[in-house]
Amino acid sequence: MAYRVRRCRSLEELGPAVGAIGHYFGWVPSTEDVERFSKLLPPERMHAAFDGGDIVGGSGAFSFELTVPGPAAVPCAGVTVVGVLPTHRRRGILSRMMRAQLDDVRERGEPVAALFASEEVIYGRFGYGMASLTLAMSLPRASAGLGVGLPGSAGTVRFVDGPEALASFPRIYDRLRRETPGFMSRSRDWWESRRLHDDPDDRSAGAGPLNRALLELDGRPAGYALFRHVRTEESGARKHRLQVLEAFGLGHAATREIWRFLFEIDWIEEIRARLLPVDHSLQLQVARIGRMDLRVDHGLWVRLVDVGPALSARGYAADGRVTFDVSDAFCPWNAGIWTLASGVARRTTRAPDLRLDVSSLGAVYLGGFSFAQLVRAGLVQEARRGAAARADAMFASDRAPWCPEMF
Ligand SMILES: CC(C)(COP(=O)(O)OP(=O)(O)OC[C@H]1O[C@@H](n2cnc3c(N)ncnc32)[C@H](O)[C@@H]1OP(=O)(O)O)[C@@H](O)C(=O)NCCC(=O)NCCS
Repeated sequence: MAYRVRRCRSLEELGPAVGAIGHYFGWVPSTEDVERFSKLLPPERMHAAFDGGDIVGGSGAFSFELTVPGPAAVPCAGVTVVGVLPTHRRRGILSRMMRAQLDDVRERGEPVAALFASEEVIYGRFGYGMASLTLAMSLPRASAGLGVGLPGSAGTVRFVDGPEALASFPRIYDRLRRETPGFMSRSRDWWESRRLHDDPDDRSAGAGPLNRALLELDGRPAGYALFRHVRTEESGARKHRLQVLEAFGLGHAATREIWRFLFEIDWIEEIRARLLPVDHSLQLQVARIGRMDLRVDHGLWVRLVDVGPALSARGYAADGRVTFDVSDAFCPWNAGIWTLASGVARRTTRAPDLRLDVSSLGAVYLGGFSFAQLVRAGLVQEARRGAAARADAMFASDRAPWCPEMF
């Protein structure tokens, strides 16, 4: 049976294409849902798989700018809402959608694609490499103090409504975004309909409304938190939890103060947060790191769609030259030998220093993993001794990549 894959041409096609992934969590997008979603992802950025006239799968891509080491910003396809109906799984439909999507991303001139994967085993075959790790935290409030020796509390926190949050939070976010590899740009529509919109249908059981808290230091916006109170029943006892969706501060003092505020809310038994970077400064600011119950998970997966422009788009920590022999079975236009020198990647006939799959270039692209780690894991081969160390000096980043929102 031949399935056709092509871009959606209308909202009428966008609905069922998004509905394929929706099927897995019991969501049938309404006309309003589709209209709202189309402001973030228009039909032409959604691929649909057809069985005859029926849409049986879909795969979309947001048009983002991704912060990369330098720091610099690079156009990036944020792959999302990937799904194939259970009636059609394991017949190669995902593979066809990935083919059509990566060709399209390349034509659009986006050198990089990125995604959050539901399962680690799916996307490596399409050239994606795990580029960041994330931490999830469950901290009992009784242990949620800041370390001794830190300055006393500073600044003020106040709750703000949607419009005020829209006026102040994006500026704080953008300042952090510009300096943090892994952050994605957010449009005004994104802020309105995705981050600040408090849809009761989005709340998990027992969760209260979205709280938007603004931190001011010296009278200036310096941080914010988005969080919900969640009430649960455990063994007949009522429990209160704080689910932190986002807590950002500009600089160490603001980071400390926004978390201090969250830690000190009464009646809370536990503070939970996900998608924290592995080097979050909170680990050095809390009194008891051991009580944070930190759990590691895979974060952003990155695919270099066009190796030359992608490598040339980021900044490098040291001068030098390194030559890669890249294999790329899914996007063969990337395969071959590339030299990176003075921040520019070009095709070359030089002898390679390192041999690797394009997915390994994705893994090191944001500075989250080193070539030395990949060599130790057997994923990169050194053709010249010391090449991994040389490449690591160039690719080093002073902070771990952090993408604070799943998309
Ligand atoms: C994951 C999903 C999109 C795969 O679609 P599909 O059309 O069945 O995938 P394909 O038939 O094209 O499979 C391509 C390859 O990936 C493998 N694969 C696909 N899904 C896999 C999974 N969940 N676990 C392990 N391998 C998987 C297939 O075995 C196949 O391998 P092969 O080429 O060696 O034979 C589909 O099962 C689905 O919609 N699942 C639920 C939603 C989901 O997880 N979406 C992904 C969100 S990030």
